[in-house]
Amino acid sequence: MGNITFNYSNSFIKCHQVENMKPLIEVAHGLLHRGEGPGGDFTGWIDLPRNYDKQELERIKESANNIQRDSDALIVIGIGGSYMGSRACIEALNHSFYNHLPRDRRRGPNIYYAGNNMSSDYICNLMDLLEDLDISINVISKSGTTTEPAIAFRLLRKYMENRYGKRESNRRIYITTDRHKGGLRTLADREDYISFAIPGDIGGRYSVLTAVGLLPMAVSGIDIDRILEGARDAMDEYSRINIDENISYQYALARNILYGQGRYIELLINYEPHLNSLAEWWRQLFGESEGKDGKGIYPSSANFTTDLHSIGQLIQDGRRNLFETTIYVENPRRDIGIEADDFDIDGLNYLSDKTVDFINRKAFEGTLMAHTKGGVPNLIIKVPRLEEYYMGKLIYFFQKACAIGGYISGVNPFDQPGVEGYKRNMFKLLGKFES
Ligand code: PA5
Repeated sequence: MGNITFNYSNSFIKCHQVENMKPLIEVAHGLLHRGEGPGGDFTGWIDLPRNYDKQELERIKESANNIQRDSDALIVIGIGGSYMGSRACIEALNHSFYNHLPRDRRRGPNIYYAGNNMSSDYICNLMDLLEDLDISINVISKSGTTTEPAIAFRLLRKYMENRYGKRESNRRIYITTDRHKGGLRTLADREDYISFAIPGDIGGRYSVLTAVGLLPMAVSGIDIDRILEGARDAMDEYSRINIDENISYQYALARNILYGQGRYIELLINYEPHLNSLAEWWRQLFGESEGKDGKGIYPSSANFTTDLHSIGQLIQDGRRNLFETTIYVENPRRDIGIEADDFDIDGLNYLSDKTVDFINRKAFEGTLMAHTKGGVPNLIIKVPRLEEYYMGKLIYFFQKACAIGGYISGVNPFDQPGVEGYKRNMFKLLGKFES
């Protein structure tokens, strides 16, 4: 069946550097698992793959079935950790052109995202698109007060009520928020919306395996039981304190060693467009968790071979302050062969017995050699194939590495105090009354 693997043999990291850091990992592991480190009240995600609410999971599946039955489109309203994880999985596990396929060739309705920006153009254009479609909405906000999703929800709720009337509109609105508090919870209770709870001890960017991520995923036809199965196996494998048996901790350590050597930028690389949104989710996870107290690797990403034709030059020959982490998918879901051509004007007949995936693999191998030769450390994560099980596992792999890495570098990986800065100024400029 295969497993996710991690390899740092192209990173110039020496064995003794790893050995020296082992005690730190052990301390970080202990703090995290006992809930005694900074932000220890937000570690509910560690046991979540086993400790989830089984009845709620059944309700999620039931709601997903209803949305699939009565909607042409689902609008997922949320920002940051409230939508990036589900989007990553939906794009990794479905057809590359999911929204454009005829309805009978895909498992769920179209999926659109709102409330993740404040562009007036975007929301108006989205409303244009919805005119001829039957829609449902899933509003996701743990705090229930975040401005971007709140604005999108207010506008789309009005739109729905005008179109369907209040009763039918309320039936098509699904809320995912804190169980007890926040404006969205109050609204859900008042309007009797179907609602799901985000556990209090799980923060936004660690919440993808709760209803936050699982409902939109299930609507798109993803097997969420398999996602949780992968996460469960990850929970066991990546809880081993012995770093030689724990690739998630190896990744955390390797990043930390490279950061200590002045590698302040990490590029998450993929060779598979299905993974572009996973990189967005990963950037938020690591950026918001580690970037504080004057510290933090800048998490960036590049999609190869596309970006080899844009920033490839800089990676190969530019300032040596970055390292790459490549997620390589070993088996594509589909492949296609190159046929010989009588005239061979494009000069591609030398590839005539090869498949596109084979060529992609050679691009990966060639790039790895070139970038390593250029002095760029490379960490490699290999995923057997893009299936639910491995996505569940990969998500947990990164979450665990992020939390452990945060503790090694001495920050609280579960808060985000810096995000308040822009909000304070914006509210002041908007004349918001602060009670
Ligand atoms: O990781 C986090 O906590 C944040 O990125 C939040 O997910 C994001 O700010 C959205 O917050 P909320 O779900 O409260 O609307």
